[in-house]
Amino acid sequence: MTTISPSSEDLKLQVATLLQDDLQAVQDGLLRQFRNRSEFIQDVADHTSRFRGKQIRPILTLLCSRLGTPAPDSQTREMARLFGIVVEMIHAATLVHDDVIDDADLRRHVSTVHRRWNTETSVLFGDYLFSQAFYLAATSGDAEACRLIGQATNRTCAGELNQIAARLEQSRSERDYFRIIAGKTGQLFAISCRLGARAAGLPRKLQNQLSMFGLRLGMAFQIADDVLDLTMSSARTGKDSQNDLQNHRLTLPVLRGLRIAPPNQQQLLLQRLEHSADATPLLPSEYPALQAGLASATAAAERMASRAIQCLHHFPAGRERTLMESIAWFAAGRSN
Ligand code: IPE
Ligand code: IPE
Ligand code: MG
Ligand code: MG
Repeated sequence: MTTISPSSEDLKLQVATLLQDDLQAVQDGLLRQFRNRSEFIQDVADHTSRFRGKQIRPILTLLCSRLGTPAPDSQTREMARLFGIVVEMIHAATLVHDDVIDDADLRRHVSTVHRRWNTETSVLFGDYLFSQAFYLAATSGDAEACRLIGQATNRTCAGELNQIAARLEQSRSERDYFRIIAGKTGQLFAISCRLGARAAGLPRKLQNQLSMFGLRLGMAFQIADDVLDLTMSSARTGKDSQNDLQNHRLTLPVLRGLRIAPPNQQQLLLQRLEHSADATPLLPSEYPALQAGLASATAAAERMASRAIQCLHHFPAGRERTLMESIAWFAAGRSN
């Protein structure tokens, strides 16, 4: 499949140009939310926000709030900024907890909270961020938005729990895999988009379309993440390389590799996977089954991105829509 994918630098520039003030407001708001009188809490907060991350979720909230109305009124803008801060805080909380679950060393190029301090700090700091995000959401006065945020977060946690269940059962079902990623990653992308649509006062039908766009985009994003886990260095991603492998997680590239490769190659890959926790890094180029799986997973991410883009056909063509399409292609083929 050929896609028109701008480089990530191009995309960053386009986003920064269009959303400059709003993104700055989100950034300032996040810094305010991360401020605390306790020196210890402030230390942990500073550590986790030293590197910003891509901020793709608030970017989507802001873009969705402009889809129907490229020049949103001040109330819409304020609401979209608030929701942007909320989704980025929920994201930050899930990362702090996820790193404990995955026993990860590195996040955004620095030590994870539990490595730098300890697990108690990670658990409580993650809870602190979740509760702060819900508290902030409540200041919007939009009770329905709060209900939806609670529901999306709940489904995100269920996704992470189902991932544990799949590992315990050694599930090789793609259906399980897609259900897990729809929960743990898709839900937060879906609510990020829906909240932008709500801020703009779009009708329920259009909110649903943008939520579906977010869900599919989030799934493409996670499949790409699972490809990167196997292929990319930690210097590039800022996170542990091959962390999924060490945790015996059968992600889409591995599942596909095991399904489509000839039996002898499957066997080689299976043997190697059994020792993945203690062995040196796996070189995908040495396992044709895995290479086939990686190619197939990347194609699946691209298909998911193109299905996400279909949801945008209900909206007028324009800069915002084009940018959202580019973000969908970026999510599927990203390299960090
Ligand atoms: C990481 O999300 C977690 C996944 C869903 C794969 P991001 O890749 O958006 O993390 P940051 O915020 O840019 O660091
Ligand atoms: C995403 O899964 C986790 C969440 C949605 C919280 P991963 O475990 O693959 O995310 P990274 O790779 O650690 O960022
Ligand atoms: Mg992880
Ligand atoms: Mg990952």
